[in-house]
Amino acid sequence: MYNTSIRAIESAAKNGVIKTLASKSCSWVKPIGILLCMRSTANNGRGFIDAGTSEFFLNSKYRKGQVEKDMATVSLRHIVKIYPNSGETKKHNTKNLKVTDEGVLAVQDFNLEIADQEFIVLVGPSGCGKSTTLRMVAGLEEISKGELYIDDKLMNDVAPKDRDIAMVFQNYALYPHMTVRQNMEFPLKLRKVPKDQIDRAVDQAAEVLGITQYLDRKPKALSGGQRQRVAIGRAIVREPKVLLMDEPLSNLDAKLRNQMRAEIIKLRQRIHATFIYVTHDQTEAMTLGDRIVIMKDGVIQQIGTPQEVYDSPVNMFVAGFIGVPQMNFYDGKLLKNAAGKYSVQVEDAVIELPAEKQKNLADHKVGEQDIIVGVRPEHISLKEVPGKMIKGTVDVSELMGSSVHLHINALGKDGVIIVPTLDLKGNKTFAIGSPIEFTFGGDVAHVFAKESGKNLEFSNDTTQE
Ligand SMILES: Nc1ncnc2c1ncn2[C@@H]1O[C@H](COP(=O)(O)OP(=O)(O)O)[C@@H](O)[C@H]1O
Ligand SMILES: [Mg+2]
Repeated sequence: MYNTSIRAIESAAKNGVIKTLASKSCSWVKPIGILLCMRSTANNGRGFIDAGTSEFFLNSKYRKGQVEKDMATVSLRHIVKIYPNSGETKKHNTKNLKVTDEGVLAVQDFNLEIADQEFIVLVGPSGCGKSTTLRMVAGLEEISKGELYIDDKLMNDVAPKDRDIAMVFQNYALYPHMTVRQNMEFPLKLRKVPKDQIDRAVDQAAEVLGITQYLDRKPKALSGGQRQRVAIGRAIVREPKVLLMDEPLSNLDAKLRNQMRAEIIKLRQRIHATFIYVTHDQTEAMTLGDRIVIMKDGVIQQIGTPQEVYDSPVNMFVAGFIGVPQMNFYDGKLLKNAAGKYSVQVEDAVIELPAEKQKNLADHKVGEQDIIVGVRPEHISLKEVPGKMIKGTVDVSELMGSSVHLHINALGKDGVIIVPTLDLKGNKTFAIGSPIEFTFGGDVAHVFAKESGKNLEFSNDTTQE
C-alpha cells in the first residue's frame, strides 16, 4: 500500500501535479524530492499515506499547487442553547427540559473537543438537542452561551457561509427544477468557482457516490437513496472542512439505510473532512462513530468510543439506549463481605464480581445497598450453575437464525435472552409459558444505583465512609 502510494505521488510529482502541500495536521517527510504530508495519528490511526490519501491530493484543490490548510478541529466549550419563552416555544414539546427565566434550555453546557477528521455521532431520543447542537455548529442557530472554535478560531459570530462547513439534511432539500448536476454545482457557482473546476469537482463527487449516470436527471426521477447521494454530493463538492449530517438516512427504508450506512463509511475514507453526524438510531451511532455523544434532555450523558459506551455505560439511560435488544434490568442487592469483596444478588443467585469491578467499586467507597443489576441479552446464559440461577417464564421465542431471542418474564420484569442457535443443538424448544432458569457472569453485570441510575463503578452518590 505504502509503496503503491509513493509511486503514485512520485509520478504525480514528475508530472508537476503536486507542488507543495502545507497543513498544520501533517508532519513532513521528504522521500523523493517532493514534500509528502503524513497525517498525524489524531485521525484514528490512519497515520500513513494510503492510496486514498494520495488520490485525494492528486484530485483535490491541491492540484493547483495552492498552499492550503486542510485541518479541521472543532471545539464546543460550555455551549448552551436557550430558546427564549415566546409563542414559538409553546409550539415545541419541551416538557423534559429545564426552564429558567431566560427560557427553555435545549442544550446545557455541551463540551466536546473533536479531532481533525474524527467522525462524531450525536445520538439520543427525539427532542434531546441533537439538531440544535448541530445547527449551532453550522451557524444556523445562535449560540446562547459558550464558545465554538473551528481550528482554534472563534466561530460564534462568523456567518454560516464563512465557516467552511457543509450540511446534509434528512429531507435532502434538493432543488426540484434543477438536474442532479445543477444541484451539485450550485454551491460552487455561488462561490464563482471557474467552470472547469466546477465540472471536475462535480464529476469526481458523482463518481465517489456512484451517481454519474444520473447527472442529467431531475431529483423526482431518482429514488430516495439516490436523492440523498445527490444531497451528500452537493455537500462534498466544495470539500468542506467539516461535514454535518442531520439524520441523513431517516427517510430511507431499512434496506437502503443499511446500504447507505456502508456508503457513508466508504465516503469517510475517501474525503478528508471532520464529520458530525446526528441520529436517533443507536445502530448508526455504533457503526459510524469514532466516538459517540449520547444526549438526553439537552444534557450529554456520556462521550466515548462505541466499545466504551457498550462496555461501560455511565448510567442506566446509556445502558438502555446502546445495544439491541435492550439491556435487562433487575432489582438486586450489592453485597460486600467481611473481606470487602463485592457480589451482586438477584433473587437467590449470588454472583461475585471480577477484580476490575471490585476495584472500581472500592475506589468509589460503595457500600452494601439495593441496586439495579443490568445484564445484556447476549450475556445471559442458560447453562446450569448451582446457586446462581434466576427463574423466569418464556413469553415468546423468536428464531432469528444465528440465535433465538427469548422474551421472558423474570422477577416481574420483561426481558430478553439471546441464545446462540449452536448452543441449542437442535433439540431444545421453548414453549410459551414454560419455566426457564438463567444466569450470568459477574464480568457482564452492571451495577446501578437504585435512585439515580448511575453506574456505581464510575460515580457514587451513596458513599459509605
Ligand atoms: N424554536 C424553538 N423554540 C423552543 N423550543 C425549541 C425550538 N426548537 C426546538 N426546540 C426544543 O428544543 C429541544 C431540542 O430540539 P432538537 O434539537 O430539534 O432535538 P433533536 O434533534 O434531538 O430531536 C426540543 O425539546 C424542542 O422541542
Ligand atoms: Mg433533530
